[in-house]
Amino acid sequence: MKGIRIKGTGRCVPERVVTNEDLAARMDTSDEWITSRTGIRRRRHCTAETHSTLCAGAARAALARAGVSPEEIGACIVATVTADDLVPSAACVLQRELGLPQDIPCFDLSAACTGFLFALHTMECLLNASPRRFGLVVGAEVLSRVTNWEDRGTCVLFGDGAGAAVVECREGWPSIGAVLGCHGDDRLLRLPGVERGGRSLISMEGTRVFKFAVEAVPWCVDRVLERTGRTVEDVDFFVFHQANARIIDLAVRKYHIPPEKYYKNIAEYGNTSAASIPLVLSELEEQGRVGPGSRTLVVGFGGGLTWGGAMVEFA
Ligand code: UT7
Repeated sequence: MKGIRIKGTGRCVPERVVTNEDLAARMDTSDEWITSRTGIRRRRHCTAETHSTLCAGAARAALARAGVSPEEIGACIVATVTADDLVPSAACVLQRELGLPQDIPCFDLSAACTGFLFALHTMECLLNASPRRFGLVVGAEVLSRVTNWEDRGTCVLFGDGAGAAVVECREGWPSIGAVLGCHGDDRLLRLPGVERGGRSLISMEGTRVFKFAVEAVPWCVDRVLERTGRTVEDVDFFVFHQANARIIDLAVRKYHIPPEKYYKNIAEYGNTSAASIPLVLSELEEQGRVGPGSRTLVVGFGGGLTWGGAMVEFA
């Protein structure tokens, strides 16, 4: 089996910044509560932007950084639960917008906040069976569209954005060693499908999801290390899904991860679900904190329930 590496990342976020103070002015909440419970200070919400424009912006930036042209792409996956339309998929729209080849698979993948990891693993499998070497993986969400503004326990958490990675597949590179899992549950975290006459809005039992997350993260870290035959010390960088700063802090303490080896941008973007991991990766790459030779352990968890991890290297 050939392995994939990240060749370049990119991101695109809406212009409009919504602060905790903005939310406190319209509902019974406070900057103090949101910051201390979650680490979130601001998030972005779409106004003129759409899911498609965010995807295209992030994908173009990733292609430019990777130095790969759209014609070279062998498959395109958009991880999302908030595409503009169910049909055509966000990936098909991206095929048209970017001029990706027409003889490749382009499709959306639904695994909530673990979507980007499910998509990376799927892309590794697809490229192993493809004559083309490069793949485009996007994580994008417009969660402000499905936020329940009557529920202060969830509406303060979510933000909009998109991140993308161009990956390359080569003989001799190790697999990303993805470990992925699911447990069907429609009580703890739910975004209902198209309902007759109703709007589809997110609901979540936050405290119970928190408990699930703090168990899922170490499970993923341990399994990825086991599969890849690495130790915590072998890892150059840890990237965790940005759902709550406290969940990241617990993992950091458990594995004694030094400050220079992990990153949080939840203060700026909130929880952007499938976009959260590629948003982190693209900021890290831009800052020169990851790049060729970096070995990054990536962990995601979320609705479904879903969870997963992988050891991602940069080409
Ligand atoms: O990305 C997918 C995975 N998602 C996650 O991993 C999210 C995991 N869960 C969490 O991050 C946390 O559970 C939350 C941040 C969602 C909630 O934090 P919590 O510490 O579990 O708070 P809680 O829901 O137990 O609520 C505590 C109190 C309640 O008041 P009482 O009953 O103690 O009087 C809530 O009504 O805080 C109240 N509360 C708020 N107060 C001010 C809930 N939301 C707010 C709010 N502002 N926005």
